Amino acid sequence: MAEIARGLRNVVLTETRLSMIDGEVGKLIIAGFPLEELAPHATFEEVLYLLWHDRLPNADELTTFTQQLSANRSLPETTLTVLQVAAQNKLPLMDALRMGVDTLSLVDPEPEATSIEANLRRASRLLAHFPTIVASYWRLLHGQEPVTPRSDLSHAANFLYMVNGQVPEPAITRGMETYLNTVVDHGMNASTFTARVIASTRSDMTSAIVGAIGSLKGPLHGGAPGPAADMVFEIRERAARSGRSVAEEAKDWATAKLQSKERIMGFGHRVYRVRDPRADVLGGAVRQLFQQTGGLDFYNDARAVEDAMLQALEEYKPGLRIKTNVEFYTALILHGIGLEPEIFSPVFAISRVGGWVAHILEQYAEDELIRPTTNYNGAYDRKWVPLAER
Ligand code: CMC
Repeated sequence: MAEIARGLRNVVLTETRLSMIDGEVGKLIIAGFPLEELAPHATFEEVLYLLWHDRLPNADELTTFTQQLSANRSLPETTLTVLQVAAQNKLPLMDALRMGVDTLSLVDPEPEATSIEANLRRASRLLAHFPTIVASYWRLLHGQEPVTPRSDLSHAANFLYMVNGQVPEPAITRGMETYLNTVVDHGMNASTFTARVIASTRSDMTSAIVGAIGSLKGPLHGGAPGPAADMVFEIRERAARSGRSVAEEAKDWATAKLQSKERIMGFGHRVYRVRDPRADVLGGAVRQLFQQTGGLDFYNDARAVEDAMLQALEEYKPGLRIKTNVEFYTALILHGIGLEPEIFSPVFAISRVGGWVAHILEQYAEDELIRPTTNYNGAYDRKWVPLAER
């Protein structure tokens, strides 16, 4: 029998020009740029253009691309109706996002077109709708009317405007841009792999993206930042009640979790054996944001929680080199931006869809069906027993 690569660990699927991860030294390259060079400086629109066209846009190209996105923000009536029904049923946000994106097939003006140009137009339409779906559903869930998108705001600023009904301060928008840029692409993660598997059958882009949303939802992938934020909130509350330090409360919290064999969200990674470089980039952005908005107490407490978790993980899982991952700092920056933990995973999707699109296009160009094999470990030679005799 062939050797099994369980979880496809260390299996190289294909080549990509989109991102490179070195898990031993903690390095991430996005389309040729070290993450720390790109994420704090670029707008999300520039990063999308870079991923989709393999170069930064000039001023005219950026204007055209930005207009293409902003012209596609309003939701079709059917999408809004689906979101309203989902809200009545209090469905989780990721489910509503998946259902909302699926309805966009109804308004695809060129459903049969499969050229690169048509797929780029489709990609812009899909991606432009993500923030509107997430923000509208968030408001519907909270008994508020959705806010009509504004075409004069950036992708990042308009999303926050649609959530809160207020145009965000520049420092907040910058934090959001840096976050979106940081998580846009990350090698062959589970949701990207899902998208590529679907695209490899020559299925359509919307199907591939809907599948990827389902994959991102899980707590081992994109579902971790909400619980990571809740952990920090809970430990701070315990410290406030008991009068003990955040570090002491965090130590007890971690011990209880690890003794009962639970995982601590925001720590550990399949590829990184050192600190996730995305955590470093977001860490810098978070610090800057809290300095500007006056939340340094929270930031310092969160750092104390992080240190306690790392110590406990080293104690209970020695030698495994479990370090802080992107989701811990995602939790901090999105909290600093003023968002609630329930919306963190869909916000991750608002960014990652940019990477999914680029990978789907690469997969279409490669045109190779992804189809691994399995070793059979079931029974042989069973004899058919009629229903009446079972
Ligand atoms: N807390 C406690 N134990 C952990 C953790 C953690 N956060 N991460 C790994 N371990 C343990 C795990 O229990 C196992 O221990 P043992 O061998 O004693 O059973 C060992 O480390 C190896 O775990 P693994 O499952 O082989 O590692 P993996 O590569 O499959 O898992 C992971 C990677 C991200 C799923 C895992 O670290 C995890 O569950 N972390 C918490 C959830 C989380 O933060 N997810 C976001 C990931 S980053 C976002 C992204 O890039 O998608």
